Amino acid sequence: MLKLRNPLFVAIDTADLDEAVRLAEMLKDVAGGLKLGLEFFTAFGPDGVARIAEFDLPLFIDLKFHDIPNTVSGAVRSLMRMRPAMFTVHAFGGLEMLRAAADTAALEADRLGLPRPWVLGVTVLTSLDAGDLDVLGVEGSTHKVVARLARLAEKAGLDGIVCAPDEISTARSTLGEKFRLVVPGIRPKGAEMHDQKRVTGPREAIQLGADVLVVGRPITRSDDPVFAARSILGALERAEGQEG
Ligand code: C5P
Repeated sequence: MLKLRNPLFVAIDTADLDEAVRLAEMLKDVAGGLKLGLEFFTAFGPDGVARIAEFDLPLFIDLKFHDIPNTVSGAVRSLMRMRPAMFTVHAFGGLEMLRAAADTAALEADRLGLPRPWVLGVTVLTSLDAGDLDVLGVEGSTHKVVARLARLAEKAGLDGIVCAPDEISTARSTLGEKFRLVVPGIRPKGAEMHDQKRVTGPREAIQLGADVLVVGRPITRSDDPVFAARSILGALERAEGQEG
């Protein structure tokens, strides 16, 4: 069972390995984990991931697999050698593909003696709106499609989904309590929005029911990434204090 030090995963979105290593080194005692995505993986592959894994932080490897079940199984088998704490697959891949990902991850984790990673479904990319879904022939509002795909992911035995801040409440009320919600689009008060359109503060996201927060540029582009990360964690602790 995956145990996290804290819910803050820092997205290291860069095609500069030295920069990624510098950030991982700086954040190793602060972050709950690091997220590496397609940009990093396409540039540096498993060797690059191994370099970042040296800092001993849980890794969220965000490659959003979407292919036939057999191919996804094979990819998950290879991915498991990188010891991800969590990874993503597209829920649009369908029930069988999602089951293949979840089953293979569990089997490989057991075989390698590793904790089982969270297998996370990506529902509707937040870059797509109702018009885009229509062009793709997908019926229903974005929210309805997200809910449908989230339920499919749950049925397939996935551990959770990646969801936008404004989807947390609906997801929490329609999905099982143990289903994990991993949430990007987080901006501390006063932070720059960058290209994020709908954002939520870290404390609010956790209060709504997020399990993990994915924060990139407010930390990685800050003059002092450690201070920026600590400030977010401080806000979360204060929220906990208020509840208790
Ligand atoms: O820099 P920022 O905090 O916006 O980074 C957020 C991270 O979460 C990026 O790696 C981005 O690709 C990812 N993400 C997102 N919105 C989604 C899904 C993933 O911002 N809907």
